Amino acid sequence: MTKKRVLSGMRPTGKLHLGHLVGALDNWVKLQASFDCFFMVADWHALMSEYEKPSTIREYSLDNVVDWLSVGIDPEISTIFIQSQVKEHLELNMIFSCLTPLSWVERVPTYKEQLKEIKNRDIHTYGFLGYPILQAADILIYNADAVPVGLDQLPHLELTREIGRRFNHLYKKDLFKEPKDLLTSSPKLLGVDGRKMSKSYDNTISLSETSESMHGKILSMFTDSTRIHKSDPGHPDKCNVHSYYNVFFPQDAAGIAAACRQSQLGCRDCKEDLARRLNELLKPIREKRKELLSEKKKILNLIEKGNLKAQAAASQTMQKIKDVIAL
Ligand code: TRP
Ligand code: SF4
Repeated sequence: MTKKRVLSGMRPTGKLHLGHLVGALDNWVKLQASFDCFFMVADWHALMSEYEKPSTIREYSLDNVVDWLSVGIDPEISTIFIQSQVKEHLELNMIFSCLTPLSWVERVPTYKEQLKEIKNRDIHTYGFLGYPILQAADILIYNADAVPVGLDQLPHLELTREIGRRFNHLYKKDLFKEPKDLLTSSPKLLGVDGRKMSKSYDNTISLSETSESMHGKILSMFTDSTRIHKSDPGHPDKCNVHSYYNVFFPQDAAGIAAACRQSQLGCRDCKEDLARRLNELLKPIREKRKELLSEKKKILNLIEKGNLKAQAAASQTMQKIKDVIAL
Protein backbone atom coordinates (compact mmCIF):
# COMPACT_ATOMS: atom_id res chain seq x y z
CA MET A 1 0.00 0.00 0.00
CA THR A 2 1.37 3.40 -0.86
CA LYS A 3 1.75 5.73 2.05
CA LYS A 4 -0.36 8.84 2.32
CA ARG A 5 1.49 12.07 1.78
CA VAL A 6 2.31 14.67 4.38
CA LEU A 7 3.62 18.14 3.66
CA SER A 8 4.85 20.58 6.24
CA GLY A 9 7.15 23.54 6.34
CA MET A 10 9.01 25.98 8.52
CA ARG A 11 10.14 29.51 7.82
CA PRO A 12 13.91 29.94 8.06
CA THR A 13 13.82 33.13 10.10
CA GLY A 14 16.12 32.07 12.92
CA LYS A 15 17.73 29.23 14.77
CA LEU A 16 15.41 26.43 15.82
CA HIS A 17 14.78 26.01 19.52
CA LEU A 18 13.19 23.70 22.06
CA GLY A 19 9.77 25.08 21.16
CA HIS A 20 10.20 23.83 17.59
CA LEU A 21 11.36 20.47 18.91
CA VAL A 22 8.32 19.75 21.07
CA GLY A 23 5.88 21.73 18.90
CA ALA A 24 6.75 20.22 15.52
CA LEU A 25 9.96 18.32 14.98
CA ASP A 26 9.34 15.43 17.41
CA ASN A 27 6.08 14.91 15.59
CA TRP A 28 7.66 15.13 12.12
CA VAL A 29 10.15 12.45 13.11
CA LYS A 30 7.34 10.11 14.14
CA LEU A 31 5.26 10.78 11.04
CA GLN A 32 8.04 9.45 8.84
CA ALA A 33 7.13 5.88 9.76
CA SER A 34 3.61 6.08 8.38
CA PHE A 35 3.60 8.85 5.77
CA ASP A 36 5.45 9.85 2.65
CA CYS A 37 6.75 13.08 4.11
CA PHE A 38 7.76 16.28 2.34
CA PHE A 39 9.48 18.75 4.64
CA MET A 40 9.94 22.19 3.18
CA VAL A 41 12.07 25.19 4.04
CA ALA A 42 9.56 27.97 3.40
CA ASP A 43 12.05 30.61 2.34
CA TRP A 44 9.59 32.64 0.26
CA HIS A 45 7.42 32.88 3.34
CA ALA A 46 10.47 33.98 5.32
CA LEU A 47 11.14 36.71 2.79
CA MET A 48 7.71 38.18 3.51
CA SER A 49 8.91 39.29 6.93
CA GLU A 50 12.70 39.41 6.38
CA TYR A 51 12.81 41.32 3.09
CA GLU A 52 14.71 44.21 4.65
CA LYS A 53 17.55 41.88 5.56
CA PRO A 54 17.23 38.89 3.25
CA SER A 55 20.84 37.78 3.67
CA THR A 56 20.01 35.74 6.76
CA ILE A 57 17.48 33.54 5.01
CA ARG A 58 19.90 31.30 3.18
CA GLU A 59 22.05 30.87 6.25
CA TYR A 60 19.09 29.85 8.41
CA SER A 61 17.73 27.58 5.68
CA LEU A 62 20.83 25.44 5.88
CA ASP A 63 21.04 25.68 9.65
CA ASN A 64 17.42 24.59 10.05
CA VAL A 65 17.91 21.62 7.76
CA VAL A 66 20.94 20.62 9.82
CA ASP A 67 18.70 20.70 12.90
CA TRP A 68 16.04 18.60 11.16
CA LEU A 69 18.63 16.00 10.30
CA SER A 70 20.12 16.12 13.78
CA VAL A 71 16.83 15.35 15.49
CA GLY A 72 16.09 12.41 13.21
CA ILE A 73 14.53 13.54 9.96
CA ASP A 74 15.84 10.90 7.59
CA PRO A 75 16.57 12.10 4.05
CA GLU A 76 16.47 8.50 2.82
CA ILE A 77 12.83 8.28 3.81
CA SER A 78 11.56 11.84 3.62
CA THR A 79 11.95 14.58 1.05
CA ILE A 80 13.70 17.66 2.36
CA PHE A 81 13.57 20.63 0.02
CA ILE A 82 13.70 24.40 -0.35
CA GLN A 83 10.52 26.11 -1.49
CA SER A 84 12.22 28.71 -3.69
CA GLN A 85 14.09 26.01 -5.62
CA VAL A 86 10.85 24.48 -6.88
CA LYS A 87 9.58 27.23 -9.14
CA GLU A 88 6.17 25.63 -9.57
CA HIS A 89 5.09 26.94 -6.17
CA LEU A 90 5.06 30.47 -7.54
CA GLU A 91 3.27 29.47 -10.68
CA LEU A 92 0.47 27.89 -8.72
CA ASN A 93 0.53 30.81 -6.28
CA MET A 94 -0.20 33.13 -9.20
CA ILE A 95 -3.07 31.02 -10.44
CA PHE A 96 -4.57 30.80 -6.96
CA SER A 97 -4.11 34.54 -6.50
CA CYS A 98 -6.28 35.11 -9.55
CA LEU A 99 -9.13 32.99 -8.30
CA THR A 100 -9.11 33.77 -4.58
CA PRO A 101 -11.54 36.51 -3.56
CA LEU A 102 -9.83 39.34 -1.71
CA SER A 103 -12.25 38.98 1.21
CA TRP A 104 -11.04 35.42 1.85
CA VAL A 105 -7.48 36.53 2.56
CA GLU A 106 -8.45 39.72 4.35
CA ARG A 107 -10.46 37.80 6.92
CA VAL A 108 -7.73 35.27 7.81
CA PRO A 109 -7.27 35.82 11.55
CA THR A 110 -3.49 35.32 11.56
CA TYR A 111 -3.19 38.16 9.06
CA LYS A 112 -4.96 40.68 11.25
CA GLU A 113 -3.19 39.48 14.38
CA GLN A 114 0.27 39.64 12.85
CA LEU A 115 -0.31 43.15 11.50
CA LYS A 116 -1.13 44.22 15.04
CA GLU A 117 1.55 42.18 16.81
CA ILE A 118 4.63 42.58 14.67
CA LYS A 119 6.12 45.93 15.54
CA ASN A 120 9.76 45.59 14.51
CA ARG A 121 9.00 44.89 10.84
CA ASP A 122 6.74 46.45 8.27
CA ILE A 123 4.57 43.68 6.92
CA HIS A 124 1.90 45.95 5.47
CA THR A 125 2.71 44.57 2.05
CA TYR A 126 0.89 43.00 -0.81
CA GLY A 127 3.06 39.88 -0.49
CA PHE A 128 2.23 39.32 3.14
CA LEU A 129 -1.50 39.48 2.46
CA GLY A 130 -0.92 36.59 0.08
CA TYR A 131 0.89 34.48 2.68
CA PRO A 132 -1.84 31.84 2.99
CA ILE A 133 -2.34 31.64 -0.78
CA LEU A 134 1.26 30.60 -1.23
CA GLN A 135 0.82 28.15 1.62
CA ALA A 136 -2.19 26.68 -0.18
CA ALA A 137 -0.04 26.27 -3.28
CA ASP A 138 2.66 24.55 -1.19
CA ILE A 139 0.18 22.01 0.06
CA LEU A 140 -1.99 21.42 -2.99
CA ILE A 141 0.85 21.17 -5.48
CA TYR A 142 1.94 17.96 -3.72
CA ASN A 143 -1.58 16.66 -3.31
CA ALA A 144 -0.86 16.30 0.37
CA ASP A 145 -3.31 14.14 2.28
CA ALA A 146 -2.39 15.65 5.59
CA VAL A 147 -0.59 18.63 7.05
CA PRO A 148 0.83 18.60 10.56
CA VAL A 149 0.21 22.04 11.99
CA GLY A 150 -0.29 23.87 15.23
CA LEU A 151 -3.59 25.47 16.17
CA ASP A 152 -2.59 28.86 14.77
CA GLN A 153 -2.25 27.41 11.28
CA LEU A 154 -5.73 25.86 11.08
CA PRO A 155 -7.28 28.88 9.31
CA HIS A 156 -4.59 28.59 6.63
CA LEU A 157 -5.49 24.97 6.08
CA GLU A 158 -9.17 25.83 5.88
CA LEU A 159 -8.38 28.46 3.26
CA THR A 160 -6.32 25.88 1.40
CA ARG A 161 -9.35 23.59 1.18
CA GLU A 162 -11.53 26.48 0.05
CA ILE A 163 -9.13 27.43 -2.70
CA GLY A 164 -8.88 23.83 -3.88
CA ARG A 165 -12.64 23.53 -3.90
CA ARG A 166 -13.01 26.77 -5.82
CA PHE A 167 -10.57 25.58 -8.45
CA ASN A 168 -12.36 22.23 -8.80
CA HIS A 169 -15.71 23.99 -9.02
CA LEU A 170 -14.63 26.65 -11.53
CA TYR A 171 -13.10 24.18 -13.95
CA LYS A 172 -15.39 21.23 -13.22
CA LYS A 173 -12.45 19.08 -12.27
CA ASP A 174 -11.63 16.88 -9.37
CA LEU A 175 -8.02 17.88 -9.31
CA PHE A 176 -7.41 18.83 -5.70
CA LYS A 177 -8.31 16.76 -2.69
CA GLU A 178 -8.93 18.24 0.71
CA PRO A 179 -5.93 17.97 2.97
CA LYS A 180 -6.60 17.06 6.58
CA ASP A 181 -4.94 18.67 9.51
CA LEU A 182 -2.82 16.56 11.80
CA LEU A 183 -3.12 18.80 14.79
CA THR A 184 -0.02 18.50 16.91
CA SER A 185 -1.19 18.40 20.52
CA SER A 186 2.07 19.76 21.73
CA PRO A 187 2.63 20.68 25.34
CA LYS A 188 2.99 24.39 25.86
CA LEU A 189 6.61 25.33 26.33
CA LEU A 190 7.31 28.85 27.50
CA GLY A 191 10.54 30.76 27.11
CA VAL A 192 13.03 31.03 29.96
CA ASP A 193 11.41 34.34 30.98
CA GLY A 194 7.93 32.83 31.20
CA ARG A 195 6.59 34.46 28.04
CA LYS A 196 5.89 32.62 24.80
CA MET A 197 9.14 31.10 23.51
CA SER A 198 10.14 33.29 20.62
CA LYS A 199 13.32 34.57 19.10
CA SER A 200 11.96 38.11 19.20
CA TYR A 201 11.80 37.91 23.01
CA ASP A 202 15.31 36.51 23.21
CA ASN A 203 14.08 33.83 25.62
CA THR A 204 14.75 30.67 23.66
CA ILE A 205 17.02 27.70 24.18
CA SER A 206 18.21 26.76 20.74
CA LEU A 207 18.87 23.20 19.63
CA SER A 208 22.50 24.14 19.14
CA GLU A 209 22.85 25.95 22.48
CA THR A 210 26.13 25.17 24.24
CA SER A 211 25.93 23.47 27.58
CA GLU A 212 27.33 26.55 29.37
CA SER A 213 24.90 28.94 27.77
CA MET A 214 21.96 26.67 28.52
CA HIS A 215 23.08 26.28 32.11
CA GLY A 216 23.12 30.05 32.53
CA LYS A 217 19.69 30.45 30.98
CA ILE A 218 18.13 27.79 33.16
CA LEU A 219 19.63 29.14 36.35
CA SER A 220 18.19 32.54 35.45
CA MET A 221 14.64 31.21 35.21
CA PHE A 222 12.02 32.47 37.65
CA THR A 223 10.53 29.83 39.88
CA ASP A 224 7.59 30.00 42.27
CA SER A 225 7.68 33.68 43.26
CA THR A 226 6.17 33.01 46.71
CA ARG A 227 9.05 30.75 47.62
CA ILE A 228 11.96 32.59 49.21
CA HIS A 229 13.66 29.91 51.31
CA LYS A 230 13.98 26.22 50.70
CA SER A 231 11.87 25.69 53.81
CA ASP A 232 8.90 27.44 52.15
CA PRO A 233 6.71 24.82 50.50
CA GLY A 234 6.80 25.35 46.73
CA HIS A 235 3.99 25.48 44.17
CA PRO A 236 5.29 23.57 41.16
CA ASP A 237 2.11 24.26 39.20
CA LYS A 238 3.06 27.96 39.27
CA CYS A 239 6.67 27.35 38.30
CA ASN A 240 8.02 27.48 34.75
CA VAL A 241 10.94 25.25 35.70
CA HIS A 242 8.48 22.56 36.65
CA SER A 243 6.64 22.93 33.37
CA TYR A 244 9.93 22.02 31.65
CA TYR A 245 10.01 18.81 33.69
CA ASN A 246 6.44 18.15 32.59
CA VAL A 247 7.34 18.58 28.95
CA PHE A 248 10.71 16.85 28.79
CA PHE A 249 10.77 14.43 31.73
CA PRO A 250 7.13 13.64 32.43
CA GLN A 251 8.01 10.37 34.17
CA ASP A 252 9.81 12.30 36.93
CA ALA A 253 7.66 15.42 37.10
CA ALA A 254 5.36 14.13 39.85
CA GLY A 255 8.29 13.19 42.08
CA ILE A 256 9.87 16.62 41.64
CA ALA A 257 6.56 18.31 42.39
CA ALA A 258 6.13 16.31 45.60
CA ALA A 259 9.65 17.10 46.78
CA CYS A 260 9.08 20.76 45.97
CA ARG A 261 5.80 20.94 47.88
CA GLN A 262 7.35 19.23 50.89
CA SER A 263 10.33 21.61 50.90
CA GLN A 264 12.73 18.76 50.27
CA LEU A 265 14.02 20.23 47.04
CA GLY A 266 15.48 23.68 46.66
CA CYS A 267 15.07 25.72 43.49
CA ARG A 268 18.77 25.96 42.81
CA ASP A 269 19.19 22.15 42.91
CA CYS A 270 16.04 21.71 40.89
CA LYS A 271 17.39 23.99 38.15
CA GLU A 272 20.85 22.44 38.22
CA ASP A 273 19.21 19.08 37.74
CA LEU A 274 17.07 20.37 34.86
CA ALA A 275 20.10 21.89 33.15
CA ARG A 276 22.01 18.62 33.47
CA ARG A 277 19.13 16.57 32.10
CA LEU A 278 18.42 18.92 29.20
CA ASN A 279 22.07 18.86 28.39
CA GLU A 280 21.94 15.07 28.11
CA LEU A 281 18.97 15.45 25.82
CA LEU A 282 20.63 18.01 23.54
CA LYS A 283 24.07 16.43 23.52
CA PRO A 284 23.42 13.91 20.76
CA ILE A 285 21.71 16.61 18.69
CA ARG A 286 24.67 18.94 19.17
CA GLU A 287 27.12 16.22 18.22
CA LYS A 288 25.17 15.25 15.14
CA ARG A 289 25.07 18.90 14.13
CA LYS A 290 28.81 19.17 14.43
CA GLU A 291 29.33 16.08 12.36
CA LEU A 292 26.94 17.30 9.66
CA LEU A 293 28.41 20.77 9.55
CA SER A 294 31.83 19.30 8.86
CA GLU A 295 30.38 17.83 5.65
CA LYS A 296 28.43 20.76 4.35
CA LYS A 297 28.77 19.55 0.78
CA LYS A 298 26.88 16.40 1.69
CA ILE A 299 23.98 18.40 3.08
CA LEU A 300 23.84 20.62 0.02
CA ASN A 301 23.73 17.49 -2.14
CA LEU A 302 20.99 15.97 -0.11
CA ILE A 303 18.94 19.15 -0.36
CA GLU A 304 19.54 19.25 -4.09
CA LYS A 305 18.25 15.70 -4.37
CA GLY A 306 15.20 16.66 -2.33
CA ASN A 307 14.59 19.70 -4.55
CA LEU A 308 14.59 17.49 -7.63
CA LYS A 309 12.24 14.98 -6.07
CA ALA A 310 9.88 17.72 -4.97
CA GLN A 311 10.09 19.36 -8.36
CA ALA A 312 9.17 16.10 -10.09
CA ALA A 313 6.07 15.78 -7.93
CA ALA A 314 5.13 19.45 -8.29
CA SER A 315 5.49 19.49 -12.06
CA GLN A 316 3.10 16.55 -12.39
CA THR A 317 0.39 18.58 -10.71
CA MET A 318 1.27 21.68 -12.73
CA GLN A 319 0.90 19.68 -15.93
CA LYS A 320 -2.66 18.76 -14.98
CA ILE A 321 -3.39 22.37 -14.09
CA LYS A 322 -2.06 23.58 -17.40
CA ASP A 323 -4.42 21.22 -19.18
CA VAL A 324 -7.16 23.33 -17.63
CA ILE A 325 -5.56 26.73 -17.76
CA ALA A 326 -3.69 26.83 -21.00
CA LEU A 327 -1.87 30.10 -21.49
N1 TRP B 1 3.08 29.05 7.75
C1 TRP B 1 3.87 27.98 8.30
C2 TRP B 1 4.42 28.40 9.65
O1 TRP B 1 4.72 29.56 9.87
C3 TRP B 1 5.00 27.59 7.38
C4 TRP B 1 4.51 26.98 6.11
C5 TRP B 1 4.63 27.49 4.86
C6 TRP B 1 3.78 25.77 6.00
N2 TRP B 1 4.06 26.64 3.95
C7 TRP B 1 3.53 25.60 4.61
C8 TRP B 1 3.34 24.82 6.92
C9 TRP B 1 2.80 24.50 4.15
C10 TRP B 1 2.62 23.74 6.45
C11 TRP B 1 2.34 23.59 5.07
O2 TRP B 1 4.57 27.57 10.50
FE1 SF4 C 1 10.07 25.22 40.75
FE2 SF4 C 1 11.75 23.27 41.28
FE3 SF4 C 1 11.71 25.48 42.78
FE4 SF4 C 1 9.74 23.77 42.92
S1 SF4 C 1 11.85 23.36 43.48
S2 SF4 C 1 9.53 25.99 42.77
S3 SF4 C 1 9.59 23.04 40.80
S4 SF4 C 1 12.28 25.33 40.63
